[in-house]
Amino acid sequence: MSEIAEIIVDGKSYQLPIVVGTEDEKAIDISSLRSETSHITLDPGYKNTGATTSAITFLDGEKGILRYRGYPIEQLAEKSSFLEVSYLLIYGSLPTAEQLNDFSDRIRRHTLVNEDMRKILDGFPATAHPMGILSALVSSLTAFYPESLNSNQTQDEMDLSVIRLMAKMPTIAAWSYKNSIGHPVIYPKNKLDYASNFLNMMFAYPTESYEVDPVVVDALNKLLILHADHEQNCSTSTVRLVGSAHASLYSSVSAGIGALWGPLHGGANQAVIEMLEQIKADGGDSKKFIEKAKDKNDSFRLMGFGHRVYKNFDPRAKIIKKSADDVLTALGVKDPILNIAKELEEAALNDPYFVERKLYPNVDFYSGIIYRALGIPTNMFTVMFALGRLPGWIAQWKEMRENKEPIGRPRQVYVGETERDYVAVENR
Ligand code: ACO
Repeated sequence: MSEIAEIIVDGKSYQLPIVVGTEDEKAIDISSLRSETSHITLDPGYKNTGATTSAITFLDGEKGILRYRGYPIEQLAEKSSFLEVSYLLIYGSLPTAEQLNDFSDRIRRHTLVNEDMRKILDGFPATAHPMGILSALVSSLTAFYPESLNSNQTQDEMDLSVIRLMAKMPTIAAWSYKNSIGHPVIYPKNKLDYASNFLNMMFAYPTESYEVDPVVVDALNKLLILHADHEQNCSTSTVRLVGSAHASLYSSVSAGIGALWGPLHGGANQAVIEMLEQIKADGGDSKKFIEKAKDKNDSFRLMGFGHRVYKNFDPRAKIIKKSADDVLTALGVKDPILNIAKELEEAALNDPYFVERKLYPNVDFYSGIIYRALGIPTNMFTVMFALGRLPGWIAQWKEMRENKEPIGRPRQVYVGETERDYVAVENR
C-alpha cells in the first residue's frame, strides 16, 4: 500500500497521499488540501515546498550529490562538453555522435542575430549592466520570431526556438560586453566551437587577430557544465512560473535572467570579487570581515558562502576549486586577492559560526576567481552564469510545457486591514 500522511484540522482527520521519487525523496501531496480543509500551507521562500516533479536534475544537499539525468556532475565535468550536456538536459539522454553533430551544426547555423538587434543594443548607454542588456535582448527575440509566441507550437517549432536561443545567447552576451566598453561588436565565427566562438566575440578586435587559448576554452567548458542546471532554484522557478502562463521561451528565459542577476543568487560571483577587492582596499584583514559577517547588527555577509540546499560542501565547488588551481597555474596568474580568498575560506571552514550553520564556500566563491583569471570582466560574471544555466532553463521550461503543468499561482494569508469605508480626502 502506498504511504499516506494524516493531518488533523479542527479536530477532523484528513489523509494525504505521499509521492515518492526515484531517489526515495518524499513529498506530501497537498493538492486537495484547500478543497477538503479550506486551509492552505504557508512556506515563505518555499523552503519545504516542491513545485513540481521533475526528471532532469537530482541533488542531495546533505550528501553533496548533483546529477543531471542520472549522470554524476563529476563525470560530466571531467569527460563531456557543454553542448553534449546541453543535449542531455534538454532531450533527456546523452547524444549519439550523429545527434551531437547535428545539434552542434544547427546551433552553429543560428549564431547570427538580426541586424536590427544592433539598433536596440545601440540604444543602451555604456553604463548599462550586461545582465540588463542580456535580459532585454533575449526578450526582444520574440519580436524577430513572433511565431515563438504561439503557445501551441509543434515539437519542431519549439525545437527551433530552443536552437535559436542556444545559438544566439553567446552572441548577445558578448555583444552586451562590447557595448559596455564602447567597442564594435564581433560577429560569430561558425568554424569555432561554442566556447571558442564566445571567447572570440568577447576578446577579438576588428583590427587584430585573436588566438583562443585551449586552457581557457577548457576551463570555460567546465564552468558552463557545472552551472548548466540546479533543479528548482530561484531563476529556474522563475522561468517555469513565467512559462506556466504560456509565455514564450524567450520571455520566460528573459525573466530568469532577471532573477539570476540578484546578488543572493547568480550575482554572488560578481559580489565575491567586489568583496575581496573591498577587503584588499581595507588593508587585507580577512579576520575583521569574518567578524563583520558574524555580527547580527552588521548587514555584511560573506559572499560566496552558504547555500539554500547544500548543507555540505557544494559538489560543484569541489570540482571548481581544483579547476581554479589548475587554471591559475597554467596561465601563470598571480592575483593578490587569491590570498585573501584562501584566508577567508580557511577561517570560515574552522570558525564555529560557519561550521554550526553549515556555511561552506559555494560554486560562486571560486567561479569568480576563475573568470577573473580568464580575463572576463567582473560585470560579465553573472552573464557567464546565465550562459551556463541556459540549457537547464530550456529543459525545465520544456518539461513544464510538455507535462502540461497548470499556471503557477501561489496563495497567501492576508494580514492587512479588514473592510473599512472610504473617507473623502477633506475629512481625513
Ligand atoms: N555570511 C554570514 N552568515 C550567513 C551567510 C553568509 N554568507 N549565509 C547564511 N548566513 C547565516 C544567516 O545569518 C543565518 O544565521 P542565523 O541562523 O543565526 O540567523 C543562517 O546562516 C542561515 O541563513 P539563511 O539566510 O536563513 O539561509 P538561506 O538558505 O535562506 O540563504 C543564501 C542561502 C541566500 C545563499 C545565503 O547563504 C547567502 O546570502 N549567501 C551569500 C550569497 C551567496 O553566496 N549566494 C550564492 C548562492 S549559490 C547560487 O545561487 C548559485
